[in-house]
Amino acid sequence: MSVPAFDLSAWVAARAPRVDAALDRFLPRATAKPATIHKAMRYSLFAGGKRMRPALVLAAAEACGGTEAAALPHAAAVECIHTYSLIHDDLPGMDNDDLRRGKPTNHKVFGEGMAILAGDGLLTWAFEILAQADDTKRYGTRDYIRELAQASGSLQLIAGQVADLEGEGRDLTVAQLRYIHERKTSALLRCAVRLGGMSANCTPAQLTALSDFGYNVGLAFQVIDDILDVTQSSEQLGKTAGKDERSQKATYPRIVGLKKSQAIAAKLTRQAFAALRPFKGRAGALEDLAQYLLERKN
Ligand code: IPE
Ligand code: IPE
Ligand code: MG
Ligand code: MG
Ligand code: MG
Repeated sequence: MSVPAFDLSAWVAARAPRVDAALDRFLPRATAKPATIHKAMRYSLFAGGKRMRPALVLAAAEACGGTEAAALPHAAAVECIHTYSLIHDDLPGMDNDDLRRGKPTNHKVFGEGMAILAGDGLLTWAFEILAQADDTKRYGTRDYIRELAQASGSLQLIAGQVADLEGEGRDLTVAQLRYIHERKTSALLRCAVRLGGMSANCTPAQLTALSDFGYNVGLAFQVIDDILDVTQSSEQLGKTAGKDERSQKATYPRIVGLKKSQAIAAKLTRQAFAALRPFKGRAGALEDLAQYLLERKN
């Protein structure tokens, strides 16, 4: 008897509405005063993101034998941080983008000041939501908060964004580019799978494996993001294509070319698979997510 193939799109489609429902439940209503800010926060949060970080949280929890209910606060918190980082990333003082998730960017709709505040609001709510997650035998609120604070703070995500801005128009080495990718993108994906594992009371060995997996998937994710900016249309991406070239961003295609970039992303994905060995086949969703993220077209 053949084992039915694991269907990732069905797996994600089944979970995405519950992630959205959790985000909706955790955040203030759009009518909560002052309504402008809550409308602005919800505008970007529910604009149609792929929800890949929440998917990684839930898949990691599943690999460690946990429940979806226990992992939903962690998933929602990570998505709030991610969406805040996108709102700020698009601001005129940063990447100056008009299109995000197929819609006008937050500052285009609500104005620059409100977009800054919407980002601030989501950033702060992430920690409020995380503080509502249940403790497990091994991990508790303090661990969750530190995990997310470190990944999104000025030594990781923000450090990456700083180096990304400072790298515009400069010829960076591959090592310098990797420094940027480790921080601006990989740190939060690594954090996502670690938090998923923690919500499931993972063992220290599982946490190490998840860190290794998340690090490599996170790096592959940003290499692919750089590639898609060159190879896809704005319509396909839901954000302005060709923007990196115009802004003279340091990217993999710019530094090593498209072909080599693709080979690097594939190698990082293989390294991510290798990190899952300790799960002995129980991390099917994580494995399929990594493959999907490599092959994605948006
Ligand atoms: C875009 O992330 C920003 C990067 C770190 C490359 P996603 O491609 O996950 O964006 P959404 O959430 O689907 O909009
Ligand atoms: C964004 O990187 C990273 C963060 C928001 C932390 P990019 O600037 O490459 O993301 P896109 O291409 O605008 O989505
Ligand atoms: Mg950027
Ligand atoms: Mg950008
Ligand atoms: Mg990009």
